Amino acid sequence: MEMNKRPRRLRRSAGIRNLVQETRVDIADLVYPLFVVHGENIKKEITALPGQYHFSVDRLIEEVSQVVNLGIQAIILFGIPAKKDERGSEAYAMDGIVQQAIREVKKHYPDLVVISDVCLCQYTDHGHCGLIKDHEVLNDESLDLIANTALSHAMAGVDIVAPSDMMDGRVAAIRQVLDKNNFSHIPIMSYSVKFASGFYGPFRSAAKSSPQFGDRKTYQMDPANGREALREAALDIEEGADILMVKPALAYLDIIHQLKTTYNMPLAAYHVSGEYTMVKMAAKEGLIDGEKVMVEILTSIKRAGADMILTYFAKDMAEWIRRNT
Ligand code: PBG
Ligand code: ZN
Repeated sequence: MEMNKRPRRLRRSAGIRNLVQETRVDIADLVYPLFVVHGENIKKEITALPGQYHFSVDRLIEEVSQVVNLGIQAIILFGIPAKKDERGSEAYAMDGIVQQAIREVKKHYPDLVVISDVCLCQYTDHGHCGLIKDHEVLNDESLDLIANTALSHAMAGVDIVAPSDMMDGRVAAIRQVLDKNNFSHIPIMSYSVKFASGFYGPFRSAAKSSPQFGDRKTYQMDPANGREALREAALDIEEGADILMVKPALAYLDIIHQLKTTYNMPLAAYHVSGEYTMVKMAAKEGLIDGEKVMVEILTSIKRAGADMILTYFAKDMAEWIRRNT
C-alpha cells in the first residue's frame, strides 16, 4: 500500500503527541467564580452547583488561599445580598457584600486579580438586570445605577469590573464614571455577547436571581444570532471595553472564534453554571468520565479563540494541569 501521508505517524506516542499538540489550557487562563453571602463561618454547598459553595467573607479567605495555592491568578465575585429592593440598592452600597469581600480578599492577597460581576439582578426584588417600569426593563435609567455599582467596586479595590447586565451603553457609562473618579486604570471586561440562555439555571438558583416575571429576552441576545454578536462586540470596543466576553461558551464556539478573528481583542469565555452541572451530574451517574470531558471542553473553548475561561472547573482543571505537566 503506497501512502506518503500518514497522520497516525504523529500519534504513535505520548511524547510525539505532546510535541504536536496545538492547544493547552494554562492555569493562568482560568478565572474562578465565587459566591459570597452575609454572615460568619458559612461554607454551604450549592445544591444546583455540586462542589461550589456560598461563603461568608471569613470563610472566603480560606477558600481563596486554596485557589491561590493551586496557582489560579484570578477570581470573579458574585454577591448575594441580605435584602433586595426595587432599585437593587445593595449592588452599589459602599459596604455591600461584594464590596466587603473585595476589600478583604485584596487585603490578604494583593496580587490576586479580583474581578467583580457588575449587575443588579441579584439585588433587585424583581430579579431583572435593570430598573422596571410597567413591567418594562428601562435602559438609560438603569445606567447610573450600574455605573455606580462598578464605581463602588473600584473604590473597594477591585482589579477589573465585568458588567453583565446587557443594557445598551453601559460600557461607556461605566468608563465615564470610573474615569471621572480617578479610576481610569481599571479595565472593563464586558459581557459583550451574552445570550438569553437556558444554561444559567443553576446560577440563578445559587444567586437567587431568577426574574420574578417575564424573562431576559428583551436585553440578552437571541442564541440564533451570530452577526448581531459581532455588532454587540463592536459597540463595546467603541465604548472602551478592554476585554470582551462570550457567554455561555460551549454552544457558542463559533461566536468565540469569530470575535477573536474579527477584532483580535483579549477575549474571555464564560463556561456557565448549566454547562458545569451537566458534566458533574452525568459523571456522578457514571455515564461519562467527568475529568476527561472537562479537559476536552475547556480545551475546545481555548482552541476556538478564548484567551481566558471563567469556569467553576477552575480548581479541578488546575489540579489536572499540575498532575499532567
Ligand atoms: C447576572 C449574571 C448571570 C450569570 C452571570 N452574571 C445570570 C443571568 O444573566 O441570569 C450567569 C452565570 C452562570 O450561569 O454561571 N446577570
Ligand atoms: Zn443581571
